[in-house]
Amino acid sequence: MIEGKIDVDWDTLFAERTQQMKRSTVREILKLTARPEVISFAGGLPAPELFPVERIRQATDTVLAERGREVLQYSTSEGMPELRGLIAKRLSAGKFQIHPDNVLITSGSQQAVDMIARILLDEGDRVIVENPTYVGMMTSWRPFDLHFSPVPTDHDGMIVGELDGILAERHKIMYAIPTFQNPQGVTLSRERRVRLAQILAEHNLPLVEDDPYGELRYSGEAVPSVLQIEAESRGFSSVEGNVMYCGTFSKVLTPGLRIGWVVAASPVIDKLVQVKQATDLHTSTFNQFVSYEVARDEAFLDQHIATLRQVYRERRDLMLKTMDEHFPEEVIWTRPEGGLFLMVTMPPRLNAREILKEALAADVAFVPCDDFFVGDAGHNMFRLNYSNARPEMIVEGIKRLGAVLKAAVRE
Ligand SMILES: Cc1ncc(COP(=O)(O)O)c(C=O)c1O
Repeated sequence: MIEGKIDVDWDTLFAERTQQMKRSTVREILKLTARPEVISFAGGLPAPELFPVERIRQATDTVLAERGREVLQYSTSEGMPELRGLIAKRLSAGKFQIHPDNVLITSGSQQAVDMIARILLDEGDRVIVENPTYVGMMTSWRPFDLHFSPVPTDHDGMIVGELDGILAERHKIMYAIPTFQNPQGVTLSRERRVRLAQILAEHNLPLVEDDPYGELRYSGEAVPSVLQIEAESRGFSSVEGNVMYCGTFSKVLTPGLRIGWVVAASPVIDKLVQVKQATDLHTSTFNQFVSYEVARDEAFLDQHIATLRQVYRERRDLMLKTMDEHFPEEVIWTRPEGGLFLMVTMPPRLNAREILKEALAADVAFVPCDDFFVGDAGHNMFRLNYSNARPEMIVEGIKRLGAVLKAAVRE
């Protein structure tokens, strides 16, 4: 028996790379919003009332009844062949045909983003990102001790013209969310995608195209993925170029099943499989089978996505209209054509973290954007989600937030 209180000083034991790790601000704020009276625009959560619960229950029964022994067993690291085939087919268009071998199933697209860093990044590497960018990528990649080079953005997404200057120095990789960006909601225009594809080729620069929201368009004209534009611009009809495309069922089916994927050239998939084997062997066999059983009925899936689009379009429009009516004129915001978020910019003298305290006192929540920025920008910006709250809650929450903002602006 060891006598006395054991007091291990873990901080002296943790690996050096953990010093760059910190808890996600978004997830911490989500804890604050757990009180039922809080109207939260903070998370990136889909509307739970639209989850296809009955379909998933039926699919669960079916796979257990028909292939029970298989679905409860270990499976291949690449993922379920039928699911890879379905994803390859859904992302193929015209001459651009994706082979299932170029698809790797991951535990959500977050794992895909994380694993890509593990195969490509060394300490000190330079990485190009939109500014602001997805905080979950920063959380995953920061421990590699990278240099992030920010590209400014406007209402057409990343200002691709700025890349020439940045690329005067060698960069290892670029990460971007070209469609309905998190946190801004903006979309990279077709012209910029074409130019970006040229730049990637000229500089032999790999791009991580993170696309969780691409299917959730509510207005405007659809634009092909950079993956597709890049392949076509090189005259490739298949995936051989330098785009690694990450997708997910989280926003169009359910995030709880944790099914995502990477589409990439064969050498990349091959290396990612090695990381997958080291990380978790494979994505849950059971969840892959259930997801496939639901999604293979593409008429159902497409109808479900159409419903999501309709509901989210209404919620986006309602939020924008209520903001127009109740936010002070000193405050501006983005007007996304799809996705789940918009971003608000307050006058520079206001700090979003301070405003969040006032907002929480009024039982309404959002996510301050400073953590989404490389460098010091963003203190006066915050992100609003419009998919999760019901219409009456959107109106009430935005009114409350409007009152908080009006008081702050007048102070
Ligand atoms: C840009 C971006 N990438 C990745 C993810 C992670 O999604 P998943 O649930 O597929 O892991 C999110 C989630 O909000 C996201 O916004």
